[in-house]
Amino acid sequence: MSVPRTKPKYYLTTPLYYTNGLPHIGHTYSTIVADVLRRYKRMRGFDSFLTTGADEHGVNVERSAQKAGKSPQEFSTEIAAQWRKLWDELEIPGDEFIRTTDERHHRTVQWLFKRCRDNGYIQKGSYTGQYCVFDNAYVVDAGPGDPCPDCGRPTETVTEENYFFKLSEFQQRLLDFYVSNPDFIQPESRRNEVLSFVNGGLKNLSITRTSIRWGIPVPGEAPHVFYVWFDALIGYLSAVGGPNFEQHGLWPADLHLVGKEIIRFHAVYWPAFLMAANLPLPKQIWAHGWLLFDAEKMSKSRGNVVRPRPIVGVMGIEPLRYYLLREIVFGQDGNFSYDALVTRYNSDLANGLGNLASRTLAMIERYFGGEIPRPAPESTPDAGEGGAPDFSAESLARITKLYDRLSFSLALEAIWDLVAAVDKFITVEKPWALAEQPDKRARLGHVLYTASESLRLVAAFAHPVLPRATQKIWSQLGLTQTLSAVQFGELAWGQLKPGTKIGKLEGIFPRMEKSETIARIEAMEQEQNKAAEAPAAAATATSGTAAAAAPAAAGAKISIEDFAKVEMRVGQVKTAGRVAGADKLLQLQVDIGDEVRQIVAGLALAYKPEDLVGRKVVVVTNLQPRKLRGVESNGMIVAASLPDGSPVLAGFLEDVPVGARLK
Ligand code: MSP
Repeated sequence: MSVPRTKPKYYLTTPLYYTNGLPHIGHTYSTIVADVLRRYKRMRGFDSFLTTGADEHGVNVERSAQKAGKSPQEFSTEIAAQWRKLWDELEIPGDEFIRTTDERHHRTVQWLFKRCRDNGYIQKGSYTGQYCVFDNAYVVDAGPGDPCPDCGRPTETVTEENYFFKLSEFQQRLLDFYVSNPDFIQPESRRNEVLSFVNGGLKNLSITRTSIRWGIPVPGEAPHVFYVWFDALIGYLSAVGGPNFEQHGLWPADLHLVGKEIIRFHAVYWPAFLMAANLPLPKQIWAHGWLLFDAEKMSKSRGNVVRPRPIVGVMGIEPLRYYLLREIVFGQDGNFSYDALVTRYNSDLANGLGNLASRTLAMIERYFGGEIPRPAPESTPDAGEGGAPDFSAESLARITKLYDRLSFSLALEAIWDLVAAVDKFITVEKPWALAEQPDKRARLGHVLYTASESLRLVAAFAHPVLPRATQKIWSQLGLTQTLSAVQFGELAWGQLKPGTKIGKLEGIFPRMEKSETIARIEAMEQEQNKAAEAPAAAATATSGTAAAAAPAAAGAKISIEDFAKVEMRVGQVKTAGRVAGADKLLQLQVDIGDEVRQIVAGLALAYKPEDLVGRKVVVVTNLQPRKLRGVESNGMIVAASLPDGSPVLAGFLEDVPVGARLK
């Protein structure tokens, strides 16, 4: 592992995700951003290294495991494997995947605790207070029964004898550190938030628990186990050598990428733990905003999560990468919408970059036998008659600067301004008309050289975000060097050699019909949700915990109490119609006895709407409402799923009254 380094290292991390649930698009966003930065830093001369992983201890995981009828270790191992598999599938795996159940991690946590203790920063005390099980955090200033200020769930009163970390002793040291490292917390708004929190005074922090068993044991202090945040944060260090971090040469981290809700743990507790242990501090913490769906934070409990697989299954990963980085201003919240995703894809990728690549390369093939033509002798990036795009050194340096500041959206905007400028240049110059005039041959060559050289630079600068597509464009330009090995600092106008034989032409981003694409994504989403919900609907319906949503839990036994949580009733379809643009979905009004519910169901390929009117069906009535193709669905119709995925409605041989409960 400790390989002598020829380049400077850049060590970055994603949060270590909880294994009480499966990844949604919010987690995917963090990991995609980390991957973009890892690639960007490589093209800036760094040996970058990304750690991601799984945060596996704590009450939430323990409870989810219990619901799934598994031991926490077994349950968490299955879920961690799912996370890892998804990152592989999406081509965003970490260079290291640390699990907080790893032996190497246990050793590191115990070692770090000992260092803090030896340095006098640990003391024993008794704690009575309100605790939020969901967030794994004590809630200061809350009274019994008060809700958690972060998630709104009721807190629980706990009294424990704990080990405390003397956080109060670090107030001034932290403030001094923030002052001498003004870029430590980004963006500015989060920095201010942290400063005011620390300025308000720091209380000592309880870092062990005796009330739970699923945690890392405090050596010689049974039944104490470490508090999950004292455990999880240290994962960033365990991943790169733990106590032997010096030999590995990656610590301290250059960047911890996190969502805004966990900034305090990273920007206050974590540096304080490291100061207490006398270890080097990370260089920077960057907190991004949330992806919102229907203007709310996506979360399992709200039932508004979007999963990455259906999107990637229908559109591929690169449109999603581009959309997330282009549409959401890094550091701010942003709304996620399928409509905007497909619109962006068509405008910027299919009609923008993809179209520029195919028209340029096709004209080089047609007019120059597939060889990059010669530019006018005085060719400079801004010498075109039609106002050629600005590929000057300053313009390129500006893009680099935007990437450096993690202003991905602006960096992409700047790159796509160049795409638009080249398009305009081609439209003004009309190479197809020049080709008709033998005396304009040199001009034609110049125009197509300009277009292809622009394409080369655009491909290089967009590479961190669109690694596969840009490599394809690069190869189609006849370039043999691997694009990821190209250095931003060495890119300049005019490096494309006239006479280069271009590669085989191939479309990069085919246009996608919007409503059909969205319908396909939603149909796939529904299928996956059904597969995940079916085996243990009970747990998902009421608790919103991950246990049931995880395919890993399939086949697990549930208690009769769990089953009783699912409310199923006989319903009768009053009206049925198709959902615009979704070939599998029907929108139904279903009478369930005391009310008429609107339900959207994936029945359209198997049933005609008119055949369903009057039919009695089984309805799960206490599921969280959700939106499908923008239409609210308030319940689920029970159907068998045949091997080809087609549904067969559950029904009754005897007559049953509408509203009757199923038990
Ligand atoms: N286990 C802790 C982190 C410990 S790090 C030592 C945790 N895990 S988590 O599974 O809840 O993941 C939280 C992270 O996922 C957020 O900080 C953020 O990076 C990402 N996101 C989760 N939901 C999100 C959105 N809706 N939008 C954007 N990112 C979100 O907290």
